[in-house]
Amino acid sequence: MIKTVPIKNTLVNSQTGLLSVFFLLFFINCFGQNNASTIIPKPNEFVQKDGVFKLTKQTVIFCGAQKMINLDFLQSYLTDIVGFKLETSKTQNQRNSINLVVDTTTSIPDEGYKLTVETSKINIIATTESGLFYGIQSLTQLINKTKTGLTIQNCVVNDSPRFAYRGMHLDVARHIFSVQTLKKWLNILAFYKLNTFHWHLTDDQGWRIEIKKYPELQSKSAWRDETIIGHKRTDPHLFDGKKYGGFYTQEEVKEIVKYASERFITVIPEIEMPGHARSVLAAYPALGCTGGPYGTANFWGVFDDIFCAGNEQTFEFLENVLDEVIPLFPSKYIHIGGDESPKTRWEVCPKCQNRIKSEHLKDEHELQSYFIQRIEKYVNSKGKKIIGWDEILEGGLAADATVMSWRGEEGGIAAAKQKHDVIMTPEKFVYLDYYQSLNPNEPIAAGGYTNLKKVYDYEPVPAILNTEEQAYIKGVQANVWSEYLDSDKKAEYMIFPRIIALAEIAWSRKESKNYPDFLSRLDKSMRFLKDVNAAKSYYEITGKSTSSKSALALHTDLPKAEIRYTTDGTEPKSNSSIYKGAIYINKTTLLKARVFKKGIPQGKVFQQELIKSLATGHLVTLKNEGSGNYNLDKQALVNGIQGTYLYNNGEWLGLSGSDFDATIDLGSVKPISEFGINVLNYQWQKMHPPKLLTVEISTDNVDFHEVCRQTKFTEEGINKVLLKFNPTKARYVRIRAVNEGIIPEGFYGSGTKAWLLLDEIIIN
Ligand code: ACM
Ligand code: ZN
Repeated sequence: MIKTVPIKNTLVNSQTGLLSVFFLLFFINCFGQNNASTIIPKPNEFVQKDGVFKLTKQTVIFCGAQKMINLDFLQSYLTDIVGFKLETSKTQNQRNSINLVVDTTTSIPDEGYKLTVETSKINIIATTESGLFYGIQSLTQLINKTKTGLTIQNCVVNDSPRFAYRGMHLDVARHIFSVQTLKKWLNILAFYKLNTFHWHLTDDQGWRIEIKKYPELQSKSAWRDETIIGHKRTDPHLFDGKKYGGFYTQEEVKEIVKYASERFITVIPEIEMPGHARSVLAAYPALGCTGGPYGTANFWGVFDDIFCAGNEQTFEFLENVLDEVIPLFPSKYIHIGGDESPKTRWEVCPKCQNRIKSEHLKDEHELQSYFIQRIEKYVNSKGKKIIGWDEILEGGLAADATVMSWRGEEGGIAAAKQKHDVIMTPEKFVYLDYYQSLNPNEPIAAGGYTNLKKVYDYEPVPAILNTEEQAYIKGVQANVWSEYLDSDKKAEYMIFPRIIALAEIAWSRKESKNYPDFLSRLDKSMRFLKDVNAAKSYYEITGKSTSSKSALALHTDLPKAEIRYTTDGTEPKSNSSIYKGAIYINKTTLLKARVFKKGIPQGKVFQQELIKSLATGHLVTLKNEGSGNYNLDKQALVNGIQGTYLYNNGEWLGLSGSDFDATIDLGSVKPISEFGINVLNYQWQKMHPPKLLTVEISTDNVDFHEVCRQTKFTEEGINKVLLKFNPTKARYVRIRAVNEGIIPEGFYGSGTKAWLLLDEIIIN
């Protein structure tokens, strides 16, 4: 349990009080548990030895010349455990002592530590204060309460991080979180050895950092008139009518930076440019290409109105802002955004076009590059480096920029090949605003599906890079966008425990990855998160079609548990059929399943409709394969499972720019009279329905004739196509769907290729 409100008055002013509270509760909760290897992130080396160290009133702490912060942390923890403060000792390695030693002459890597627990004493040795701090976090996780008192299993732990950059990003523009809440979360990040907090402070929907030179950033840009209700894809948008906003004063920013640095966390501020600037333009319209008027955005998306790159005032404004931001943050990096910056306004703005001419730039992409490079020079002149989202590669990368690869790994790979540092943060794997469960009752999220295992399984160093290039991958970060995080509780549900999986991949060796082992340590670690609304979905049942047939394999990661299921629509009970292997069906069936442990139901009920039609399980031939993340096994089109609104759950086949052209062999000639398929209309994800869908049939796979077609797909989201025609004999059914092609003006991603997503062909 980690709290920001200390439960003991003596802790109120302690720098360390927060951790000590959960420490106390840890002891209350883990009585009698053997937790010899419970450390998260998994250490490089853990060697268990015989015997235990007994923590008693007589235990003393030796702390050499190092910073008092580490002594304070440890003393405060232990005070809570034993009910009184452990004395410090001036002599090292006394009997019954805990020795904290920073020794700059050891070969222990930066941030690493060696923890030795012997019956007579405990040593934590590190080369740096941060290493000592991490050693203390590990020691914390090893303390055990037994019938005879507090013990720590004798052991030797040798540990150091895999990556120097281990981060979490948090968007406070879409929803703001209190200083108190940020401290609570920072505390947990440090506990799991994360060391970077990327603070996304500005966006279209709000400016969240006080800039004294520009008071209207506080009075106007920090506020929006109202906020969209529900998901941004709902059409028409509905609003709550409530003014929303706020900002952090510079004093509060300093408080957060100090609090984080005491826990060896670097705070990187992000000031977005040239896009995501609507809140600034609302207050300072002269900085936009059209001159406005503009309003702080009240819904989520990518907006055409961005900073004018032809206007000198834009740079003057941003430099003045940076002049106030930079001194607040000791970080060597300043994040300048750079993502999702449409060129629509620049293309027709006389000032921007003049700039393109005067600077001899090729196009608007080079204009963006000019913008970022100019800001980089300014940031460099203040002794800092820039970091930006992977769009900063377009039009030419600024000389010394670090790239945050978010749209995938491609940006990071390209940057590493250009010898630039990279932080991997690909949305498919580490965006914590994605759904973590396929349960239909999950609270609303941005979209997509990234469960705990997917985060854990992510490998940040692309195998395609050679050894020299791989060295440019400096770390990994999870991103927490807050469009749908309108409360602390909701944010915690999305952040935890997935950030703990991220912490392990950021710290621990690739070779030591083991998901079941991680889950068992996570279970034991959950006691530290009693005050946190962590999601438990990772033990939910997941279903996977096992073959092209209508068959579903079920799985839970919960150890010593069983799955029971029904096929008649009733709720599974402790005496329902026990799951033993893939479930085959011979007619369309609603399957319901639940995990049971010792007869007691666990978690939510899983349910999945399995469709059986003449197409199910029959061979599909595709003219164009799926693209990118949507290049699935083509047989998923006839596996009996329909794609849902979670568009990346492995059911939707997607084509980028090209047409869908599939032929199904029904195996023999038979009469058919009905055709069904679903197409996805998520224009906010560049997913457009087809311009035309036709169905042709044949008995010999040579002569085809059309039996039905559809040209309009007006539903937002999933369009269920169901076409009936006169019964006709056929063996081959050919389905063609024409891709929208290039996304037209006025839509998100205009000028780029549209996606065409389809799933589950039904023929009766
Ligand atoms: C991003 O997710 N737009 C960086
Ligand atoms: Zn302009």
